[in-house]
Amino acid sequence: MRHMISKFLCSILGLLLVALLSACADMKPEFAAQDLDRWTQEVLRRSFRDEKAVKVSILQQDASNKECSTAQSRGIELSEQKRKEIEDENFKTVVSPEDGQYFGDFKLGEVLAQDGRGLTWSDAIGQPNGGQCYNCHQLSAKELSYGTLGPSLYQYGKKRGVTDLKSEVSKPVIEYTWAKLWNSKSFNACSAMPRYGDHGILSQVQIKHLMSLLLDPRSPVNQ
Ligand code: HEC
Repeated sequence: MRHMISKFLCSILGLLLVALLSACADMKPEFAAQDLDRWTQEVLRRSFRDEKAVKVSILQQDASNKECSTAQSRGIELSEQKRKEIEDENFKTVVSPEDGQYFGDFKLGEVLAQDGRGLTWSDAIGQPNGGQCYNCHQLSAKELSYGTLGPSLYQYGKKRGVTDLKSEVSKPVIEYTWAKLWNSKSFNACSAMPRYGDHGILSQVQIKHLMSLLLDPRSPVNQ
């Protein structure tokens, strides 16, 4: 008798499991993903607080970041047209140097490229940020430690034929590099590189030092 009861209970449980699984299978994936996004946002909102240079508002993605991360999380590519739209929008934000001068000091550029300080909860507001370029790029041949998320920038200027910063021939490379540093999404809709100028991470003067690091023939990058 006992055996029969447990058999009966097991069949009921089995049926319930099948019903539950088919109910899950019927759920629309978009609906589930939306809920998950909402819950995740809520957990993040409740778990974090403003602390010095870090603001909870950073969790609010702008429209193009949202489009990129939604597409990436679903394993789909943005259409060529959408990418172009995002790139054009971002390119519009690029501000050329106010005094028309694109260059500073490559030695200070190297210091900035090494400097990973800034925008964390232990950084005071108003303190200048570093560029932390080495986190993602190789730059000088002498530096042993660097990240590889971005392409190597070793001999960046040399490989592009920049021998004279004042020459007209170098102008397109100079303007492209400035715009890339100002807003990396101008040329790659879903770029993983920070938008240094557009997001106020680096000042014009700091970007000029980095321009020299990348393009000045005397810089360690171009040896
Ligand atoms: C979080 C990673 C990351 C950081 C930090 C970063 N970059 Fe990048 N960068 C990338 C990636 C990825 C690419 C290539 C994809 C793209 O175009 O966005 C790239 C591309 C570039 C390019 C264009 C290269 C080419 O051949 O056209 C330049 C120039 C550049 N980065 C300079 C810098 C400088 C200077 C810094 C520091 C101020 C920096 N990057 C910081 C990730 C990063």
